[in-house]
Amino acid sequence: MTDYTNHRLILGEEKSQAKGEIIWRSPSNIALVKYWGKYGQQLPRNPSVSFTLSNAFTDTLLEYKPKSDSSEEGIGLEFFFGGQKNDAFEDRIRKFLESLLPTFPFLKQLHITLRSGNSFPHSAGIASSASAMSALALCLCSLEDRLFGTLQQDEEFDKKASYIARLGSGSACRSIYPVAAVWGKTSTLDNSSNEYAVPLLEDQIHPIFKDYLDDILIIASSTKKVSSTAGHALMDNHSFAEARYQQANRNMDRMLKALATGDLDLFGWVAEEEAMTLHALMMSSHPSYVLLQPNTLTAIEKVRDFRKQTQLPLYFTLDAGPNLHLLYPMEHVAEIRGFVMQELSPLCENNKFLDDHVGQGPQEI
Ligand code: DP6
Repeated sequence: MTDYTNHRLILGEEKSQAKGEIIWRSPSNIALVKYWGKYGQQLPRNPSVSFTLSNAFTDTLLEYKPKSDSSEEGIGLEFFFGGQKNDAFEDRIRKFLESLLPTFPFLKQLHITLRSGNSFPHSAGIASSASAMSALALCLCSLEDRLFGTLQQDEEFDKKASYIARLGSGSACRSIYPVAAVWGKTSTLDNSSNEYAVPLLEDQIHPIFKDYLDDILIIASSTKKVSSTAGHALMDNHSFAEARYQQANRNMDRMLKALATGDLDLFGWVAEEEAMTLHALMMSSHPSYVLLQPNTLTAIEKVRDFRKQTQLPLYFTLDAGPNLHLLYPMEHVAEIRGFVMQELSPLCENNKFLDDHVGQGPQEI
């Protein structure tokens, strides 16, 4: 087990006046094999793999200065989202930072202001916890490194940022890396871990995927009826839980093979099975719930018909919501984008789809 408890990370007299700011831009990610079900402290029931996206990101600015009253207990925190003070988020982040005090004890010596904003509208129906929690984790690790010089090695920095992001939101741990990342122990990848994600390396990912497209159809932008966190909990007594975890392990082997070899048929087969399974698990939970909308199903039918007619490698996946993610290679953008605009965008709220693609991971700015 990794243990980041470190009581020595306390600011001495010479650093007690430290102040400054740190900014990270961190992207969302889309899972190809899904994390669905967890135990203990945010540990996954099965391994997952995702593409890191590019255009859907969160920018987080962390400002730090000494506490005006050093005898004040707890974390000194203010949180702004999209320029507005946001008390609900502030409470959630305060609890999260308090839970991290054994790892970052210096946080209680500082006053922290966080200013966060997303590149996509709040109402776009895109899950923002992955980009938001990864951006925050990166800011915290940069702060530790700036104050103590303890995370100079990139690999160590990324590993800790991924570990901390996981504690904030499981899927966020995969957003730390460019192109594609794996979270959860899998026999196919030696260095994989349940505690943090690891990147797929050059020879583990075929060049065709490096700029793969993800057109996100905004079928509905309303907030989810059931949060992902509540959905994970419903896996605990699920009739299909064991079969699901076995399937996910098999699909990891298949997906890692498809990603390494560029086998688009296998890639699409697994991506669609994972999407359909995720929603089948929700529909067969107790209580049961359905996040798909009629237009999600219409779009799925159209994608499958289009694929049959054209033989082009257009496949879909879904996250925990109604919005279809369309995955395809850049070399087919002309034909496929035309189809998306003509046939699929009318199924979207205000005809809206977001064009995203596989990206290069977070950036400090
Ligand atoms: C369907 O990471 O949002 O997107 O750990 O409770 O914050 P928490 O859940 P979260 O779950 C994401 C589930 C998913 C699949 C995936 O991203 O792997």
